[in-house]
Amino acid sequence: MKKLLLILSLALLTGNITAQPLARKKAAPWNNQLIPQPVSVKTEGRWVTVPVPVVILTSNNEELKKMAAGLSSKLNPQTDKLLIKDGSEATPGTLFLSLSDDPSLPNEGYRLKVTAAGITLSAREPAGIFYGIQTLLQLFPVQMDNKALVIPALTIEDYPRFAWRGLMLDVSRHFFTVAQVKDYIDQMVKYKFNLLHLHLTDDQGWRIQIKSLPKLTDIGAWRVDKTGTFGRFSPPAADEPRTYGGFYTQEDIKELVRYAKDRFVNILPEIDVPGHSLAAIASYPELSCTPGNYAVNSGESFMIWPGGGQHFYGTLDNTICPALEQSFEFLDKVFTEVAELFPFEYIHMGGDETARNFWEKSEQIKSLMQKQGFKNLDEVQSYFVKRVEKIINSKGKKMIGWDEILDGGLAPNAAVMSWRGMKGGIEAARQGHEVVMSPTDFAYIDYMQGDAVIEPPVYSTLRLKKAYQFEPLPEGVDPSLVKGGQANLWTEQVYTMRHAQYMTWPRGMAIAEVLWSPKEKRNWTDFSARVEKHFERLDAAGVKYAPSIYDPIFEVSKKDSNTIVVKLSTEIEGLSIHYSFDNSFPDAYYPVYSEPLIVPKDAVALKLITCRDKQPIGRMLVMPVTELKKRAGIK
Ligand code: ACM
Repeated sequence: MKKLLLILSLALLTGNITAQPLARKKAAPWNNQLIPQPVSVKTEGRWVTVPVPVVILTSNNEELKKMAAGLSSKLNPQTDKLLIKDGSEATPGTLFLSLSDDPSLPNEGYRLKVTAAGITLSAREPAGIFYGIQTLLQLFPVQMDNKALVIPALTIEDYPRFAWRGLMLDVSRHFFTVAQVKDYIDQMVKYKFNLLHLHLTDDQGWRIQIKSLPKLTDIGAWRVDKTGTFGRFSPPAADEPRTYGGFYTQEDIKELVRYAKDRFVNILPEIDVPGHSLAAIASYPELSCTPGNYAVNSGESFMIWPGGGQHFYGTLDNTICPALEQSFEFLDKVFTEVAELFPFEYIHMGGDETARNFWEKSEQIKSLMQKQGFKNLDEVQSYFVKRVEKIINSKGKKMIGWDEILDGGLAPNAAVMSWRGMKGGIEAARQGHEVVMSPTDFAYIDYMQGDAVIEPPVYSTLRLKKAYQFEPLPEGVDPSLVKGGQANLWTEQVYTMRHAQYMTWPRGMAIAEVLWSPKEKRNWTDFSARVEKHFERLDAAGVKYAPSIYDPIFEVSKKDSNTIVVKLSTEIEGLSIHYSFDNSFPDAYYPVYSEPLIVPKDAVALKLITCRDKQPIGRMLVMPVTELKKRAGIK
């Protein structure tokens, strides 16, 4: 590294911009650390030095100038001056942003050439330039030098595999401010995501101002402030103040939409109906089939999941009643305002996890079924969804919903977001509908990313390696119908933006690469090494991430009725696992795991640490023997 710095300083002294042949100067070869991996990277085995402040040239185009201004302040933090000039080609030491009509550049694609004659970034549309800038920023060192930036001489040709590259943020269970959502957008675009799905409504809060229905936010946006394990909170007393929550005013939404658009991100709004609607019903109880007093849920349990193939049910009715005309009048008002606020072509209507136990008993539902000739409650839900689609279509928008909207018959124009695996998406595509894949088993980033003994508890696990195996395009499905995929961050257990970051990264990088890069380029070993390099970038940017790839993976069994066997492995290569059973904290000098461990009869805890090159790299993991016993099936 020192040698490289020396060469670079020499390069600086000898001119504005120089290319250093590797063979002669013995500069370290460039190590591709880009995420997502571009379609094609051709290196020249040289380095190019760009003096700072970096001068950016653009053709006379407003969007390019705006991007150039953003880039200039990022690259030149030492000056307030924007170093942007009009130009028609790169000159040595400058960066030229150029819109080109080159038909070989696909939508959102770009070409980046870094040579001694200058850096040229060209694309057919501004989005391509934006993505090229994200790549360029990853070519620069993590810590910017005050004197010069040194980047590899190369040509990158790049474009996305899928047009829909999304992240979903649940702002209902926990509320995130406009500033926090903007920050989330800033992080996601670094990895070329182009869609932010905002889950705006749920049982725990209604988060968007609807001017014609003010109680939605006067009442529906507020709940009792509780901390601990969401879903297990004690029921609030009637007089407990409802101080936790918040909502986006319509001005806030416009600001977010504008901010996202400047970063080539569409915002998909979700209004989740007919289930998950307690916040709406608490505001307007006349929307329920079941008369009663309702309150926004504060995180206490009210849905029962009996398992064993039985349908879940609510201990109170959190659904909007499909048998009441006022439900559709309400939704017409909501979607009128939502459609005006969000320019994106789709509106998400939820449709998931509708408990029907109160519908079964409702006289209004029974009479709707009789009148319409419905045989079951799937058909009732489908009736509701089809009417919602008509409303959404009447506002000039297309409707998308979770894959439950297939039950009882899909609405004629609906797109499906497949979450209960891929099968809903496959079926919807078979019926000729558009599909977005976001299956729980690969794309649910609310799940724990390591062992439950160390991660904040959630009911399931999705490791980085598994997220990286996500394949949104199943064999035999018409690729033109699979628009892409997204990762979903539900926030029941996510109280803060710091923790939202922890849950999103690095799994967001895996999903980003799956959605952007060619399938044949996928390589876990290579990717995981790049992820580690990006941890340095996240550290520098002050963004939290999960270090769970360093935590060991447990496989626990029993040898006989009293003996526990623990097999350990790691998700990434090159780590040693060190352990103790004597309650002390292991380090790199403790025994190295090399074969399955037999837990000593009187041990109370297995403590573990992973190391690389004799340095601890993972977190200290404390596994109680009581937990091992449980996992081994020993009473
Ligand atoms: C969902 O996870 N209920 C869509």
